[in-house]
Amino acid sequence: MAPEDREWSLDELAEAYAYPEPGPGEPAPWLRANMVSTLDGAAQHDGRSQPISNATDMRIFGTLRGLADVVLVGAETVRQEGYRPARARAEFAERREAAGQGPAPAIAIVSASLDLDFSLPLFTSPLVPTLVLTGAAAAPDRIATAEKAGARVVIAGDGMGVEPARAVRALAELGHTRLLTEGGPRLLGQLVAAGVLDELCLTVSPLLTAGDAQRIAGGPSVAVPHRFTLVSLLEEGGFLYGRYGRA
Ligand SMILES: NC(=O)c1ccc[n+]([C@@H]2O[C@H](COP(=O)([O-])OP(=O)(O)OC[C@H]3O[C@@H](n4cnc5c(N)ncnc54)[C@H](OP(=O)(O)O)[C@@H]3O)[C@@H](O)[C@H]2O)c1
Repeated sequence: MAPEDREWSLDELAEAYAYPEPGPGEPAPWLRANMVSTLDGAAQHDGRSQPISNATDMRIFGTLRGLADVVLVGAETVRQEGYRPARARAEFAERREAAGQGPAPAIAIVSASLDLDFSLPLFTSPLVPTLVLTGAAAAPDRIATAEKAGARVVIAGDGMGVEPARAVRALAELGHTRLLTEGGPRLLGQLVAAGVLDELCLTVSPLLTAGDAQRIAGGPSVAVPHRFTLVSLLEEGGFLYGRYGRA
C-alpha cells in the first residue's frame, strides 16, 4: 500500500491490520502488541510516548483499537499517559457490529497494587466496563473500591501479580479473543517472556534520543531470542510501520 500524496484511510488500515480469521470451533485468543520506538530504541521521551509518535502512528493506534475486543495495559502506562475510556468511532461501527463486538474495546488494566484513581472517567463512565486484572492476594479494600467505581476485577494470578498466560485465558473466557496490548515495556516484557505474544505492530520513528529511556520490552531477558517474521511494512514520512508475527 503506497501513501502517494494522501493519508491511508481508516478502512485501508483496518484491512491491513485485520486480525486473523478464527478457525473452526472455539476462537483462540490472538494477542498483538502495538508499540512505538525511536531509532535508538527509546520507548518514551520525558515519560510519554507522544513525543516519539506522529499523526499516522496515532491513526494506526486508533485502528488497532477499533479492531480489538480489549486493550491490555500496564498500570504505569495508565497512570503516566492519563488513560481515558476507548471511544466508539463511527468509522468502525459497522465492522465491529459485523464482528459481534461492542461499540468500543474494553480497557483491561494489569495492576498488583490497584493504586489507580478510581474516580476517573476510565472507571466511572466507559462505554464498556473497564477491567482490572490482578492477583488473588490483592488488597480487598482496593478491589472493593475498584468494583464500587464500576470496574470489573478479574483475578489472574495466585499471588500479588498477574500471570501473563492466565490473563490471556481469563480474557478469552470473557469472550475477548482479539486482544491488543499497548504495553508498557514492563508488561510487554512479561508477555514476551511467557510466550503469549502472537504479533507485534511496531512503529519505528526516525528519531534519536540517547538517554536511558526504556526499550519497548523490559525485564529479564529470555533464554533464547524469540523469532518473529515481517508480515507487512508501511512507510510514510520516514516512519516505518511494521507488523511482525510469531515465526
Ligand atoms: N513506546 C510505546 O509504545 C509505549 C507504550 C506504552 C507505554 N510507554 C511508556 O512506558 C512507560 C510506562 O511503562 P512501564 O513499563 O514503566 O509500566 P507498565 O508496563 O505500563 O506498567 C507497570 C505496572 O503494571 C503493573 N504490572 C505489570 N506487570 C504486572 C503483573 N505481572 N502483575 C500485576 N501487575 C503488573 C504494575 O502496576 P502496579 O504498580 O499498579 O502494581 C506495574 O507497576 C511510560 O513512560 C509510557 O509512556 C511507551
